[in-house]
Amino acid sequence: MTHKPLKILLKSEQDTANLAHRLSRHLAPGDVVLLIGEIGAGKSFFARSIIQFSQDIAEDVPSPTYTLVQTYTTRIGEIWHADLYRLGATDEIIELGLTEAFQDAICLVEWPAILGTLTPRDALTLTFKTMPDPNHRQLEMNWSGPSWDDRLAGFDQAALDGSPQNGC
Ligand SMILES: Nc1ncnc2c1ncn2[C@@H]1O[C@H](COP(=O)(O)OP(=O)(O)O)[C@@H](O)[C@H]1O
Ligand SMILES: [Mg+2]
Repeated sequence: MTHKPLKILLKSEQDTANLAHRLSRHLAPGDVVLLIGEIGAGKSFFARSIIQFSQDIAEDVPSPTYTLVQTYTTRIGEIWHADLYRLGATDEIIELGLTEAFQDAICLVEWPAILGTLTPRDALTLTFKTMPDPNHRQLEMNWSGPSWDDRLAGFDQAALDGSPQNGC
């Protein structure tokens, strides 16, 4: 059963970074986070925030637009940041090793629609929408399967609005 979507208004980049920080504390290898939204919606910003919060030594986090995948060794496990926008065919998903990474790594996947039937059933889906205010983003979180219920129990607008500016 799909959980009722959780909707959060992110009023600044800092809000988005805070949410990424919160989520990163609940991520472990085997988790897949699907990032949906138009170009400029904030998918890469969110993924980059998760990766940077999880690194002991800060590394550059380039967009995987051309490389399709960038991998990082972090405190919380290996992170795969994928951007499937330019992927030609579904076969390439297996060639990239992504289906294996879904089991063994934390996978943050932009433009996941091409995954089709390869989409992990227990993935967390985050949909970002731009708003009239250029600094605002409407975020919708969806998931199915019980593994996210407890982890996301504390995620709501009030908790985010109460986040200290340093993201802790
Ligand atoms: N609240 C916000 N959350 C995320 N990004 C924001 C926000 N407000 C402004 N931005 C800006 O929007 C842009 C999002 O770009 P990016 O993350 O590359 O988008 P995408 O990967 O979805 O194409 C960045 O320049 C970021 O600084
Ligand atoms: Mg992007």
